[in-house]
Amino acid sequence: KEENVEVPEQEALIVVSNRLPFVLKKNPLTGVVERKSSAGGLVTAVAPVVVQCKGKWVGWTGNFYGPNEEPDYIPEADINDKTPTAGIKADQIVPVYYDKTHFNNYYNGCCNGAFWPLFHSMPDRAVFSVDHWQDYVAVNKLFSEKTLEAIHGVREGNPTVTPLVWIHDYHLMLAGNTIRELSENEGIAVKIGFFLHIPFPPWDIFRICAWDEDILMGLLGCDVVGFHIEDYCLNFIECCHRRLGCRVDRKNMIVEYGNRHIRVRAMPIGIPYSRFVQLAEEAPRVIKITTETVILGVDRLDYTKGLINRLHAFEKLLEHHPEYIEKVYFMQIAVPSRTDVKEYQDLKEEIDQLVGKINGKFSTANWSPIRYIYGCISQNELASFYRDASVALVTPLRDGMNLVAKEFVACQTGDPGVLILSPFAGAGEMMHEALLCNPYEIEEVAEALHTALQMPLEERAMRMQGLRRREKKNDVTTWMHMFMQAMESKLIKPDKSIMT
Ligand code: G6P
Repeated sequence: KEENVEVPEQEALIVVSNRLPFVLKKNPLTGVVERKSSAGGLVTAVAPVVVQCKGKWVGWTGNFYGPNEEPDYIPEADINDKTPTAGIKADQIVPVYYDKTHFNNYYNGCCNGAFWPLFHSMPDRAVFSVDHWQDYVAVNKLFSEKTLEAIHGVREGNPTVTPLVWIHDYHLMLAGNTIRELSENEGIAVKIGFFLHIPFPPWDIFRICAWDEDILMGLLGCDVVGFHIEDYCLNFIECCHRRLGCRVDRKNMIVEYGNRHIRVRAMPIGIPYSRFVQLAEEAPRVIKITTETVILGVDRLDYTKGLINRLHAFEKLLEHHPEYIEKVYFMQIAVPSRTDVKEYQDLKEEIDQLVGKINGKFSTANWSPIRYIYGCISQNELASFYRDASVALVTPLRDGMNLVAKEFVACQTGDPGVLILSPFAGAGEMMHEALLCNPYEIEEVAEALHTALQMPLEERAMRMQGLRRREKKNDVTTWMHMFMQAMESKLIKPDKSIMT
């Protein structure tokens, strides 16, 4: 054990997330293992910090291994890789490997079969299984041990470096506590933060979970627990109070646990705003120029996104306002997601049928009301769709934040369109200039569509300007900055540049 831990001079960021910022794929021609980098907003903001402070990233490579199979090695980034991840060297990656059965129980079963619906306040969809939970515990332990390896790694050669551990999302809610225990056993001072990317439900819903106490204790192992909005913070604080009997300070958002004070903070995530603007300015047109107006929906295919209600609302619009027939169409892009989980398979069937039904009901010889893409599209194409759509329909039944709403406004570089947004998304708390409407009220959404399609240019411009200004100011770098501030980290300077 090291006695008298010195006052730290330097910090090194260790990101811990279920997925690494890239997946590993074997090139079928050369047989060489290559990185396929993610272009997500979080990666854009966080990867440069990991690079600069010589930090580490702990996560899953996207592959499975049998008992006698050798895990892949981590290659350096391809020379043509221009994403922010490219700067992360292979030795900064701490891979976590698990086999298919573990993965199935932990990811499909516990994370996405139980916690995802529960945390989105849809408990009827949640399936709780002890086997799944046991593998969730085991995988969280594995991640914690790997994080300890990363902690040793960043201190190698300089034990005064303070590891700043940043855990992400509902996959890893137990890791904070275990990482604290493991590092304290070795006398290493660490700072630990957690950010939940999905909602945190009210106590009444949360208590349905048999492992509510373990989850709260896992999270309270951190110094800072961050959520998108204040409501989620208050829900969490209430659960700590009711379930664990913790003393809480709701005004200053502090939970007392043992002899520690845990800071609970609202930090709404943003997007890499300027990147989307640039993409929109440069992307070639994908939607053909016609006289038809485009209503756009972009979502992972997930029951929380309210796709069925949305299709019904569009159907209602055509019923009530037949003047839109041959004048408007609805383009829905649904990105395949969690396709091993039954709820997602069933939803796909339901959507396929409903799209067919509505198209059958209204199509004419030269027009159909819905264009439905089930698949992944490139960032360029996405920016082009966002830019050229007249209305974005973002109507989740429940959503932690919803980045589609933000990406749409960033890409609206031309004739201003209208955002229709659900108040049940975190984004609905701040994007006041959107047309807010309840996705459960089908008629209300249909009327909002009519209002959007009729909105005069001046009003559209005014609303869009307000929306864009806010997203530009509160981009993903600002979010990361907020987190670092809450962690009392010195890694980010007040001008948002990274300390080297
Ligand atoms: C949500 C979660 C993320 C997750 C993403 C995609 O946004 O908060 O943690 O990565 O969905 O889901 P997947 O299951 O494919 O990782």
